Amino acid sequence: MKAEILAMLREKKGYVSGQEMSERLGVSRTAVWKVIHQLNREGYEIKAVQNRGYRLTEAPDVMSESELQSLRKTKWVGERICYFDEIDSTNSRASQLAEEGALHGTLVVADHQNSGRGRRGRSWSSPSQTGIFMTLLLRPDIEPANASMLTLLAALAVARGIEKNTGLTVQIKWPNDIVINGKKVCGILTEMNAQMDYVNHIIIGIGINVHNTEFPDEIVQTATSIYLESGRHVQRAELIEAIWEEFEACYEGFLETQDLSSVLKEYDQYLVNRGKRVCVLDPKGTFEGVAEGITERGELLVETAEGQRKVASGEVSVRGVYGYV
Ligand code: BTN
Repeated sequence: MKAEILAMLREKKGYVSGQEMSERLGVSRTAVWKVIHQLNREGYEIKAVQNRGYRLTEAPDVMSESELQSLRKTKWVGERICYFDEIDSTNSRASQLAEEGALHGTLVVADHQNSGRGRRGRSWSSPSQTGIFMTLLLRPDIEPANASMLTLLAALAVARGIEKNTGLTVQIKWPNDIVINGKKVCGILTEMNAQMDYVNHIIIGIGINVHNTEFPDEIVQTATSIYLESGRHVQRAELIEAIWEEFEACYEGFLETQDLSSVLKEYDQYLVNRGKRVCVLDPKGTFEGVAEGITERGELLVETAEGQRKVASGEVSVRGVYGYV
């Protein structure tokens, strides 16, 4: 009921009467009043004026289930939301939920991860009240070989979402780092559980640096946050909503073609390395060339002295020849 009351308060710029809310929800006015009090205690500023009702004047920067549900405009992402103040890793929790039968679209969100995981076995710094740590569970009817494209799709959705929400200019470092002014603001870790020809589930874990003002020594040169780049503290729940709305739109196109043709041009425009010399750190041998864009399957096209090469994500890592981008 908390989410519905928050949504009603958000629907109208002015006051909403207790009577209207109680009628719409089919509960007593006292029940509505109790929830309003609870919301006040949680940090929402709700003005109450006799004969007029209630008005939401300020919301705290929280990502609770009721806050996220009250803002939710997506069709299927977040039909079920599991929020944790603290968790080991939202990816690990989403995997467990998937094993327990959780549905396509389940979203796990946390304020703090004590064992946040990054790509290639690295950890992901996840201090409380600073970032967004979330994982989406998908049960797509696609071939396992097509799953890596979902990571690029998620990167595009994050890029669009951050741009719409903040007005910042965002770029993508192939395949899925989100970069602002040459520094990483978001990382994505996609994990799949599949048989030879059948995907059981895929989880897409997204970590975004939102309010950070400092970073651990190992990443201080290459990491940034939305706050550091914009000087503004965005509401994390609103950004989450913006990202998943974009993801749903991209995902529809992907399912139709089972490739990235519907977003290829747009992705290339976001590509930070496009037209630049890159160093491809392939376990089979490092090589250099100029990044030209991606293929419909999400491989990076690199023009080398020996001709054009298609680089598939996975174990390969791409760096600018002079540094991170
Ligand atoms: C990277 O190394 O760039 C990927 C980082 C992915 C971090 C996110 S935070 C939410 C989700 N849960 C995790 O443990 N990892 C991902």
